[in-house]
Amino acid sequence: MKGEKWKTWDKTPKYGDVFYDRATGKMPEMESSKAVASRISRLASAGDSILDVGCGGGHYLVSLDKTMVKPFSYTGVDATEYYIEKAKEAFSGKSAATGLRCEPVFDTGDIFNLQHDDNSFDIVFCSNVLLHLPSVTRPLSELVRVSRRYVLIRTLVGNEPFRIMHVISPEEYNEDGDPEKFNYFNIYSESFMRSFISVLPGVKNVSFEPDNDFNPDNIGSTEYVRGGKEVPVNLTRIINGMQVNNYIIEPWCFVLIEKK
Ligand SMILES: C[S@@+](CC[C@H](N)C(=O)[O-])C[C@H]1O[C@@H](n2cnc3c(N)ncnc32)[C@H](O)[C@@H]1O
Repeated sequence: MKGEKWKTWDKTPKYGDVFYDRATGKMPEMESSKAVASRISRLASAGDSILDVGCGGGHYLVSLDKTMVKPFSYTGVDATEYYIEKAKEAFSGKSAATGLRCEPVFDTGDIFNLQHDDNSFDIVFCSNVLLHLPSVTRPLSELVRVSRRYVLIRTLVGNEPFRIMHVISPEEYNEDGDPEKFNYFNIYSESFMRSFISVLPGVKNVSFEPDNDFNPDNIGSTEYVRGGKEVPVNLTRIINGMQVNNYIIEPWCFVLIEKK
């Protein structure tokens, strides 16, 4: 049990339903999804293969499909089986709201041990995932290993590192004070990320860009209607231009890794 308490995703099917509504156009694209798609579109060559690690319901494919000028193929992997089921449902046949230009592949997979060969995708991206993991070293190595040209990551990177746990209700703690269930919202320092990534095999360059690529008006819409009920979906708001989730100021950052 110890060490597994952060693995809460499979206990929250509700989140998969939100992904599904995004993937099918019932909910708008996320600002991060649009920002990722515009960066990938600039990096891509015709016919590139793209891997989305921690793809949830595959909803970033909607933005990629709208934004990419050149043809591409897309594979999404996620550790949560229910999310992958919802992704397949959203994009199978004609159910994709946008009418897709590529035939996506969705599979369950663990970022700590990806089931893909070395250098098997031109571009690998991983958005809003690393902050929630208990460690990033193995996941970063895996993302770099399976990519041929670029890895694009969106996560929390600041000057100072913090380990943050969002304790899940009902609050329960063991005798050591550790919560029984929680989600991490970890912030890594740029210097740690840079020094770890730059010595991974095949890495040519790593760069960091604070994510200011969002329309504040589209952040913080807290409710939308599903099944006649208002459903809270987004606890993020903007304070002094920074995205704040609950009490946590989030230094969102794009990390771009270029391979040799
Ligand atoms: C906050 S969601 C982000 C989903 C999507 N990328 C987005 O930005 O909306 C985190 C995702 O990471 C997935 N995840 C958590 N641990 C994982 C792991 N070890 N390997 C692969 N995916 C994982 C979860 O199932 C969830 O879909």
